[in-house]
Amino acid sequence: MKVSVRVPATTANIGPGFDCLGLALPIYNEITVEETVMPGSGIEINIIEDIDTYDVLSIPKDENNIVYKAIELLYNYIGQSVSDIKITIKTNIPVARGLGSSAAVIVGGLMAANELLGKPADEAVLLSIASEAEGHPDNVTPALVGGFCVSSIEDDGSVTYSKIDWPQDWKLTIIIPDYELDTMIARSVLPENVTIKDASFNIRKCAMLIDAVYRHDSELMKKCLKDKIHQPYREELIKGFKEVTQLCENKEDILGCVISGSGPAILIISKNDGFEKTENEINAIFNDLNVNLDIRTLTVENQGSIVV
Ligand code: HSE
Repeated sequence: MKVSVRVPATTANIGPGFDCLGLALPIYNEITVEETVMPGSGIEINIIEDIDTYDVLSIPKDENNIVYKAIELLYNYIGQSVSDIKITIKTNIPVARGLGSSAAVIVGGLMAANELLGKPADEAVLLSIASEAEGHPDNVTPALVGGFCVSSIEDDGSVTYSKIDWPQDWKLTIIIPDYELDTMIARSVLPENVTIKDASFNIRKCAMLIDAVYRHDSELMKKCLKDKIHQPYREELIKGFKEVTQLCENKEDILGCVISGSGPAILIISKNDGFEKTENEINAIFNDLNVNLDIRTLTVENQGSIVV
């Protein structure tokens, strides 16, 4: 028996919501988990690239694979151990770009294994295991349930989340550069502590952002897509971010520009033809930096992960 699950990409943080805000995007990976017919055959992990996103050789094909590790946590939860299993990952989400590719494969592997096992885990358990495997809940929650989510990981490891309607006319443009940035590296440049002043800045921007989304208030949203606790430390790693942010300031119908997750992709939120009117200037910035781009304007993905 085998089960395949389709999982969306995600963009996390959305400016001030470090490690708690995220939304799902209509770019998908498909993860298939099957019990192997031959007992004793062990673990088999295959990567199928729909686009050239993976350095296939660098991905562990053994117990160190992140999908396998997440599945192992699920088996442990039900008091079993994984024996013979085949995992196939069909990738469409660019890897190491800040688009939740690791969250997608973790969530897909867990959901597929859970189906195979007869669904011993409910959504809450899957989210808690996925967050443990990923280290933070902001990508895994929208990857599982879709939409725009605020997630909180609690002291006991459980995840509380709220899903809030994303305004359909707020377009999400993802500027994906041709180079990778490992999340571990992007997290390593963050300080151990932040000042009360910066923490307070983020708290008020994040709280207002939720209200802006809830009330579909574009003018308020323009004031909220700011951050002082991760972007300032990461911007040196993200080519063009400072320049594009400056360019987007005060452009009509551009609500803001933020780092997508831990980068290096950049997320621009706009209305009407706000992005299109600025696209040439954005391309010129990256041309000067010799960075090739894949630019996609998308709407939010509301379905989340599904068995296919
Ligand atoms: N919140 C995480 C970070 C997202 O910014 O490190 C990583 O995709």
